[in-house]
Amino acid sequence: MKIAMIGTGYVGLVSGVCFSDFGHEVVCVDKNPEKIKMLAAGQVPIFEPGLDALIEKNVAAGRLSFSTDLAAAVDGAEAVFIAVGTPTRRGDGHADLSYVMAAAEEIARAITGYTVVVTKSTVPVGTNRQVKQVIAKANPKADFDVASNPEFLREGAAIDDFMRPDRVIVGVQNERAAEVMAEIYRPLFLRDFPIVTTDLESAEMIKYAANAFLATKITFINEIAALCEKVGADIKQVSKGMGLDGRIGNKFLHAGPGYGGSCFPKDTKALARIGQDHAVPMQITETVIKVNDETRRRMVDKITDMMDGQLAGKTVAVLGVTFKPNTDDMREAPSLTIVPALIGAGAKVRVVDPQGRREGEALLPGVQWVEDAYKAAQKADAVVILTEWNEFRALDLKRLAKKMAHPALADLRNIYSARDAKRAGFLRYVSIGRSDYIAESV
Ligand SMILES: NC(=O)c1ccc[n+]([C@@H]2O[C@H](COP(=O)([O-])OP(=O)(O)OC[C@H]3O[C@@H](n4cnc5c(N)ncnc54)[C@H](O)[C@@H]3O)[C@@H](O)[C@H]2O)c1
Repeated sequence: MKIAMIGTGYVGLVSGVCFSDFGHEVVCVDKNPEKIKMLAAGQVPIFEPGLDALIEKNVAAGRLSFSTDLAAAVDGAEAVFIAVGTPTRRGDGHADLSYVMAAAEEIARAITGYTVVVTKSTVPVGTNRQVKQVIAKANPKADFDVASNPEFLREGAAIDDFMRPDRVIVGVQNERAAEVMAEIYRPLFLRDFPIVTTDLESAEMIKYAANAFLATKITFINEIAALCEKVGADIKQVSKGMGLDGRIGNKFLHAGPGYGGSCFPKDTKALARIGQDHAVPMQITETVIKVNDETRRRMVDKITDMMDGQLAGKTVAVLGVTFKPNTDDMREAPSLTIVPALIGAGAKVRVVDPQGRREGEALLPGVQWVEDAYKAAQKADAVVILTEWNEFRALDLKRLAKKMAHPALADLRNIYSARDAKRAGFLRYVSIGRSDYIAESV
């Protein structure tokens, strides 16, 4: 099949590359010429494990190419995917659909022959019908259908998620479009991955409901963690005991500094707005947004308390600033709240992140970037683990403590324990939902 992928960001690039690996002929389009230039030169503009090799393979096979020319890519394509951004609209929390609608108009003008226009971006219920209207208005002669195909890949594990999905959701209005979508996903269908066909509205709703539910699960465990700290329970034991219940499951039950990233914050906000617009307030989701904001602020208090309220003139080493490991994505990362708060309180902040620097330099002004955790800890007053990259999961805590002026560790991902920290020579250790450790000598 001939496919055009409009938008070559985290989702568009991974989806386009994986479709080409299925054997389809794919052109990935982006209006950002820098991105396309890089890709055409064999460089990958984002960090996603395994993506570079897959691009190389499919470009070499002649199935995958990159272009800024939307019209040429759409011309003759059987399916055109819209995978542009849908960020939070400034001011009101709604999803900003301007990129989706602009892409739809451009596509309309370039359509030749029967085409299925598939929205992969996360969009509010009703958007696919709107896309249909926009295309029909811009090109009344266009022979097309729309389809909704929300994406569930996780950054950092995106290729595996795309190639071995829990399910594929396809919202369509008729059999003709359903057949084109079935053909595109045939390799997954043949391997028995569930393909769920729905109407347009249900497909759109599934994506928001799934993300809001996952954000709720994370926020729930973070709130329980806050209570654990007060009553002397241990959140790790609580999560384990809860997660073994098959009805609950152990995923997304790890207490931490609050959810972030390119999806949960904006999608929960958008769902809350959709609910308000229809006079069905999404009260749980609204509370989740509020509790998540509080969780982030609680992290700043935690670090401040660990340092007896004295951050002015102190040196703090922050390990990990991307919103999660194995990505370079900094969108809505907890570090963007926590690091400026530390700097605002007068601390000098050193930052280490295996992939975050390129994006993070502009977003975290005033920090010093360092190559590794031990250099960052040199004469520091506190180390804060913010993102659980593998290299921060196996730190030599003794070596780290020795380098520091005042060995104090805020482990906001619960990687270590008070016992580990005490043995390594730390005088203070705080984590999430567990008892703190403060040496008697302090
Ligand atoms: N990032 C994720 O993990 C993830 C997961 C599932 C769903 N989604 C959804 O997928 C969508 C895309 O997310 P993303 O993270 O890939 O966004 P992104 O910002 O990384 O990429 C969007 C790309 O679209 C390009 N673009 C915008 N308008 C264009 C146009 N008219 N023509 C060509 N290119 C255009 C931009 O230049 C940009 O490169 C969003 O709706 C998001 O909610 C994201």
